[in-house]
Amino acid sequence: LKALTTSTISDSFIIIGHRGASAYAPEHTLASYQLAQEFGADYIEIDLQMTKDGILVAMHDQTVDRTTNGIGNVKSHSLEELKRLDAGSWFNKKSPQYANPIYEIQTVPTLKEIFDHFGKETNYYIEIKAPDNYSKMEEKLIRLIQEYGLIDKVMIQSFSEKSLKKIHAKEPTIPLIQLLSYKSPARLTEIEIKKWKQYAAGIGPNYQMIDEDYIRMARKARLLVHPYTVNSKQDLEQLIEWGITGVFTDFTGSLSEEWRK
Ligand code: G3P
Ligand code: CA
Repeated sequence: LKALTTSTISDSFIIIGHRGASAYAPEHTLASYQLAQEFGADYIEIDLQMTKDGILVAMHDQTVDRTTNGIGNVKSHSLEELKRLDAGSWFNKKSPQYANPIYEIQTVPTLKEIFDHFGKETNYYIEIKAPDNYSKMEEKLIRLIQEYGLIDKVMIQSFSEKSLKKIHAKEPTIPLIQLLSYKSPARLTEIEIKKWKQYAAGIGPNYQMIDEDYIRMARKARLLVHPYTVNSKQDLEQLIEWGITGVFTDFTGSLSEEWRK
């Protein structure tokens, strides 16, 4: 396998391990983040939800159904209840070619556990998911980042402009990424750029709807451009040629057979 790290592309380009190394390990488990780090990801990506007792945990969906052996909303579970769930066996069944017995003992990690485990040994690209569904998510996140002295090790992303503005007001030095989901070929306007520049360091669009002009315009305004979720070598090479400054991928760190599919 050929390692794909910042040194193989350019100094400023970042590789974001999407949900860890989620092609190879159960997403949003310590095992998945560990693998992304070993593969050379510059950042591990963490989606955040919140338990009934107000603890920030790493999970993509608002329900536990897809990625654990439980059912129901994350916010209907206390941390103790959530911690009893098996967060990895589903992956061994779904991807037997990458199955590993250690995945069967993975639990849903809290953000605190992730910070305890990796400390300053990695960078964290944290997504505030569904902030309208939870109370004081931004405050809790900032407090934890400050408590662990990780201000210069994080980027924060969200589809919610409101949530990003709250973060910016509390801790303006953290780079923020406005996530964007386009349903048709995307064009940028000067009005949008001006708005995002007030609080964000960059944008994170779905890659399928953007082109060279889009990226050039964003870069001219000195916005970072981190498209998601790029899992083919061909798409990645095209986007790099067009000038993206980082990428979310499930296949961190390798140009293995998966890149060629
Ligand atoms: O955060 C970028 C990308 O992860 C957004 O999509 O659904 O995978 O969180 P999703
Ligand atoms: Ca995400």
